[in-house]
Amino acid sequence: MIATPVLSLSHLRKVYGETVAVDDLSFDLARGEIVCLLGPSGCGKTTTLRMVAGFVPPTGGTIAIDGASVAHLPPYRRDTGMVFQHYALFPHLSVAENVGFGLRSLGVPRAEREQRVRETLGLVELGPLAARLPRELSGGQQQRVALARALAVRPAVLLLDEPLSNLDAQLRVRMREELRGLIRRLETTTLFVTHDQEEALVLADRIVVMNRGRVEQVGPPAEIYEAPATRFVAEFIGLCNLLEGTVRAVQDGEVIVDTRGGLQLRVAGGPASPGERVALAVRPEQVVPAPAGNVPNRLPTASRHRLAVGGEELLMETHAAPAAGGVPAGEIEIALDPARLRLLR
Ligand SMILES: Nc1ncnc2c1ncn2[C@@H]1O[C@H](COP(=O)(O)OP(=O)(O)O)[C@@H](O)[C@H]1O
Ligand SMILES: [Mg+2]
Repeated sequence: MIATPVLSLSHLRKVYGETVAVDDLSFDLARGEIVCLLGPSGCGKTTTLRMVAGFVPPTGGTIAIDGASVAHLPPYRRDTGMVFQHYALFPHLSVAENVGFGLRSLGVPRAEREQRVRETLGLVELGPLAARLPRELSGGQQQRVALARALAVRPAVLLLDEPLSNLDAQLRVRMREELRGLIRRLETTTLFVTHDQEEALVLADRIVVMNRGRVEQVGPPAEIYEAPATRFVAEFIGLCNLLEGTVRAVQDGEVIVDTRGGLQLRVAGGPASPGERVALAVRPEQVVPAPAGNVPNRLPTASRHRLAVGGEELLMETHAAPAAGGVPAGEIEIALDPARLRLLR
């Protein structure tokens, strides 16, 4: 038997006037899974999260939590906890009152509420600050209050909208690790949104790459990185060489591609038809010196390397192909002949 997904989006769509914010979005979250919606600004991430949370009514499609449609339920009845991008803490309520807000909406009796608030504040290490107002907190502390408020109701699904984007760069990295530890420990099913690929690669079990309201690819971080399914994914995540070309033929399960720059390359897989315009994506670390023997796609090359030397970047060119295995993975040493350096004024 296949377990019912905790969260299931099916053909979800949202249109604002002329703008299609979310278009035919479908994916599931298994119990305990951490899934990231990754995409550029304006691709529909926040709209998706708000539809799940119940703040925005979908134009079409369905949202189910634990197998049941939530269409008719107000936000506080959906069994979700949401952390908003700008936290949206209630400014006139104390930390403890903010964290207890969802429990109050649900009618949880006072004694249990207080107990749960204490527990949740403990989780995010904010116990001693329970009586403070939001404006008396740092950015990182506000972020943790927002997280505690979402967690206090013990939601089936935790929703996080760019939870780290309001923090300065240094704090962001630290909080990223803390957040990762916390959501892993709680085993809470989590859907979080970011435009930051590093955050997605570090935090997520699976990534849903979005572009213009649509899904480009869904998969574990390594798969998204190593096997981008579209040009958009190849270019949006990591560094990638893209070689534009045309399919010449399909032979023995391999596709032969003529690139625009005059190379003829063989690629595993397909399907493809002769004359079709394609692009070949190659990650920089997949470009390696050819081993000895008869290997496909052996290419004579003038090697150009972009070298990081101290804080400078130097372009290096050598006309002998590097020996197989001869390029060290980490540092290489170069020398610059003083007689060849030109001083310009
Ligand atoms: N309330 C709204 N009214 C009109 N257009 C909106 C509204 N909310 C979002 N949009 C539009 O929908 C698209 C997706 O927005 P959003 O979901 O906020 O993107 P993201 O969170 O990925 O940056 C954008 O083009 C945005 O301008
Ligand atoms: Mg957004």
